[in-house]
Amino acid sequence: MSEETRASATTDTASTADDHGDPSSADGDRTDRPKPLPVIGNLHQITGDPLGFFDAARGHDLLPYRMFTDQCYVVAHPEGVQAVLVDDDDAYRKGEMMQRQIGSLLGDGIFLAEEGDWQDQRSTMQPAFYRERIAGYADTMTEKSATMADGWTDGQVVDVAEVSSELTLAVLADTLLGIDPGSDRDIVAHAADAIAARYDSRRVGAFLPEWIPSPTNRRYRRALADLRRTIDRIIDDRRTAIEEGSYSGTDLLSMLIAATADGGMDDQTLRDNVVTFLFAGHETTALGLTYALHSLATEPDEQASVRDAVDEFGDPVIDPDGAAARDALPAVDRVVDETLRLYPPVHVFFREPARSVDLLDTRVPAGTVLALSPWTCHRDPRWWENPEAFRPDRWETSTGDGRNGGPASKSSRPEYAYFPFGGGPRHCIGMRFALLELRLTLAVLLSQYRFSPVTETLSFAPSATLQPDGPVRLRVDTDSL
Ligand code: HEM
Repeated sequence: MSEETRASATTDTASTADDHGDPSSADGDRTDRPKPLPVIGNLHQITGDPLGFFDAARGHDLLPYRMFTDQCYVVAHPEGVQAVLVDDDDAYRKGEMMQRQIGSLLGDGIFLAEEGDWQDQRSTMQPAFYRERIAGYADTMTEKSATMADGWTDGQVVDVAEVSSELTLAVLADTLLGIDPGSDRDIVAHAADAIAARYDSRRVGAFLPEWIPSPTNRRYRRALADLRRTIDRIIDDRRTAIEEGSYSGTDLLSMLIAATADGGMDDQTLRDNVVTFLFAGHETTALGLTYALHSLATEPDEQASVRDAVDEFGDPVIDPDGAAARDALPAVDRVVDETLRLYPPVHVFFREPARSVDLLDTRVPAGTVLALSPWTCHRDPRWWENPEAFRPDRWETSTGDGRNGGPASKSSRPEYAYFPFGGGPRHCIGMRFALLELRLTLAVLLSQYRFSPVTETLSFAPSATLQPDGPVRLRVDTDSL
């Protein structure tokens, strides 16, 4: 443990331990902790400015806070993140807070499953994410990106948040589910909007139970019921097609259906997993694409140099060696890595210790909520020079696999200063899928269009993912490419 990097910003000795049971041991005795109020704890600061709250955790190690009666910490030091996700991962659970928050959405699916149940589900699904299988999805990714780009006209203004979401849903549906979303696209899009609104962290309601009959909760419940009906129909159709011998695909959906046939998964879990993949697999990647395009649009020189690299590479759509080849497009990969640093689509996720643990020299009782925030660590000046700037060149000295949670440079930056896909056994199963899709789509789009901002500045509506607050409009031009 490098003491000099831990809590290096400790200010003075005045204790701020309040009257509400917040621990004073974490982070020494710092004066810059957010002060909780009676009953609600720090809720008002989180809803007031969710990203500002996680910004304020930069420079800390373990930052205590409270949500109603739940004692929580932001784990702001990468060594703490690594301890939770990797080194001592079996001491931690997704936990009750996650269940209370998104249990009704993701149910018994892989995202929230624990222990043996999780292990079984992960083993069932893993073959759909083997390296060779992922490479086999490259054609669909490039073709669908090219079709989208062909539909644009010179000078058109495009809401890249909307089109990215349509694209990544179409890719996910085709490659992993073996379906054409067709008219079901509207049902998924409607559910995605209702989910984003339900979990919008700027609303107090996001932290209250969903049975409270607010308009947002009612809309969420209706949208989820519609989505589940649609998924049931998709599953029924596939079962019938498999029984009749008219479908022989080996996509993820067919794998999951086969697992229910041999008793390895029940129907409820199957449906929860389809919901999980629809959202974990398309919204996140769509956000990555949106923020990459916006960042390049606002940095025209960077955009031009990445486009030159793509042009030199050749047409990604007809690349005979398969554009999936690792390191085929390092300039694009650097844009992807930097985008996921600056705008991590999953900006925060949670764990709870199953038993009392020592974390960064602090005794943390079982059931304490630990917020792991890529947003905080990815923008901490202790690890990143000029952290708020979009600078793909910071990845040039990469010793490789920064995106895999590994070291992002030859510097002494700790490994988990960068963890857009989580880490340890429960790291994102779709990481390679997402990275390939981002790389190929960016290459296809940059080879055809120059992007310039109409929406000049990004603003956010942080929810379960880092949603933009409204459309992200860019103008697409074919001239002067
Ligand atoms: C840029 C895109 C993506 C980002 C930033 C991202 C981020 C993450 C993160 C941070 C986790 C860990 C959550 C935790 O530990 O609590 C995770 C888990 C997961 N992701 Fe992704 N993800 C992305 C794309 C995808 C895609 C494309 C898929 C599926 C096709 C996917 C499916 C999943 C699933 C199923 C899990 C749960 C894994 C488990 O618990 O075993 N994700 N993702």
